[in-house]
Amino acid sequence: MKIFLDTANTDDIKKWASTGLIDGVTTNPSNLSVQGGDPTKRVLEICSILPDGEVSVEVTEKDPEALYKQALRIAALSPNVVVKVPCHADYYAVINRLVDQGVSLNITLVFSLLQGLMMCKMGVSMISPFVGRLEDNGQDGVALLVQLREMVDQYGYETEILAASLRNVEHFNAAVESGADIATLPVAVFQQALVHPLTDQGIAKFDADWQKLGVSQFP
Ligand code: G3P
Repeated sequence: MKIFLDTANTDDIKKWASTGLIDGVTTNPSNLSVQGGDPTKRVLEICSILPDGEVSVEVTEKDPEALYKQALRIAALSPNVVVKVPCHADYYAVINRLVDQGVSLNITLVFSLLQGLMMCKMGVSMISPFVGRLEDNGQDGVALLVQLREMVDQYGYETEILAASLRNVEHFNAAVESGADIATLPVAVFQQALVHPLTDQGIAKFDADWQKLGVSQFP
């Protein structure tokens, strides 16, 4: 399974890239806005921190033709950029053109099995179902991950399922169990997934027992 960080904070990306666990980053207009500054420079810096990773960068234009041109400009920023396009019917024809041109796309804001099916049929690289936002809306976000996994496998599509809007470790667990190809995690959730209180307790117990031996050098 691939793990992405769902952030535009370059300090966090640098810090956790050093673990070798981070396969990519998902940015969006919200997390780029939170960081401030020039978003183009920030995206280029993220791409250089993870030269072998996949970095999703979302379009901001609304008009389909303007969005198409912006998608091409975003794709040209770096070979490891994946262009994020919202799963909206107004953009289906544009998505089709971009796929035909070999642009790697992450279709974002996917909230139903049928939206996912349409995108897989078009041959996009990734679809991003939003688990937390479905739950905000009183729906079962994890169930959608499972449905999408079954659909992709049943028809043999090559599109990757990128579980997004994961707000806690329970969501991350569920994404793993669903067989999603990628989970994009807020930094806090990634950090929580690395630790367990019993690991800390175990280290403390081993250390206390070791001290009783009174050995100054080992081995
Ligand atoms: O990358 C977009 C997505 O993960 C947003 O999450 O928590 O704002 O629904 P959230």
